[in-house]
Amino acid sequence: MSAPFASFEELFGRAPDASAEAPGRVNLIGEHTDYNGGLVLPIATPQRTRVQLARRSDRVVRASSAEVGGEPAQYVLCEEVRRGQWIDYVQGVTRALAEAGMSTPGFDIRISSEVPLGSGLSSSAALEVSLLRGLRALFGLSIDDVTIARLGQRAENDLVGAPVGIMDQMAASLAGTDAALMLDTRTLAYELVPLPPEAELVVIASGVTHEHAGGEYRVRRAECERAAAMLGVDLLCSLGPESEERLSALPEPLGRRARHVIRDSARVRAAAGAMRAGDLRTLGDLFRASHASMRDDYEISTTEIDTLVTLADSEPDIFGARMTGGGFGGSVVMVAKKGSGLGAAKRIARSYAEKTGRKPTVLLPGPP
Ligand code: GLA
Repeated sequence: MSAPFASFEELFGRAPDASAEAPGRVNLIGEHTDYNGGLVLPIATPQRTRVQLARRSDRVVRASSAEVGGEPAQYVLCEEVRRGQWIDYVQGVTRALAEAGMSTPGFDIRISSEVPLGSGLSSSAALEVSLLRGLRALFGLSIDDVTIARLGQRAENDLVGAPVGIMDQMAASLAGTDAALMLDTRTLAYELVPLPPEAELVVIASGVTHEHAGGEYRVRRAECERAAAMLGVDLLCSLGPESEERLSALPEPLGRRARHVIRDSARVRAAAGAMRAGDLRTLGDLFRASHASMRDDYEISTTEIDTLVTLADSEPDIFGARMTGGGFGGSVVMVAKKGSGLGAAKRIARSYAEKTGRKPTVLLPGPP
């Protein structure tokens, strides 16, 4: 068995021909709006996933994850089958490429990642996008950054079997660490919105991990589709906040689900405006309102996550906090006064550990 951190050369007996990387993402606001045709506002993390690759002359893929260690996993192109393991993301990408008419020869790949798994920072999109960038470099594929995001989403929807929207892959492909991506998920039109210079983001992982392929994510998505059908629209975000009275016709919990989606999408535009104006108070208020809506209307928070948000509320230099990502655990994102984030994060993490017995991790601000 190879050592957990074996180099590409140790694993495969030769040097890589190409390398690439992609970041994780923190969604600032607009949660569960992406599969409803709404707006989202993710920003890239400094934590990144890196891949090194080399061509093969056959149709075999051998893939090694530095974090998992052990012998490389292996499969034959065009014979991809779901295994319920990390290799499914690689298999999903090669199948999505083949289905899009871009079959490649086999390759060896080593993956290493600083993006923590199950923390709501979308390690999966970081893997898909870094892999697609690596394959683009290795085989000279002519795919642009939006196509990369679409192929990554397809990998996850089809082979992995997680019915996710397009936000995470678009963020990993197009967002910056200093500028969030305001994305209209219906048209894929986007613009970059810089983080105000007076602001700093804090992200704390709750130590409670989530699982998207199953359960509640799928239930929420189905509820939204039912609500849209009952309202006679293709996607819930075809309706704006001015149509809210129509939601009273929906049975519970569909009315509350739809209200969250429509309001959180509207909050994205307001948040982008507040960021451009450097109005951190308004941005913080929007974070708080978004969190309350996820907790009460969309019901995707947990007591641990709520504890983190409440602790953030008692910090004078934190303007607002909310859960980020799919929910049921993961991380909380906070907007802080520049220079105060790390101190506040450490205090919050300490009290959180005492109150819940969980092991939090401060992911942002990152190490200098
Ligand atoms: C997960 C999914 C995204 C999005 C978020 C919730 O991260 O991958 O597509 O739906 O949840 O906003």
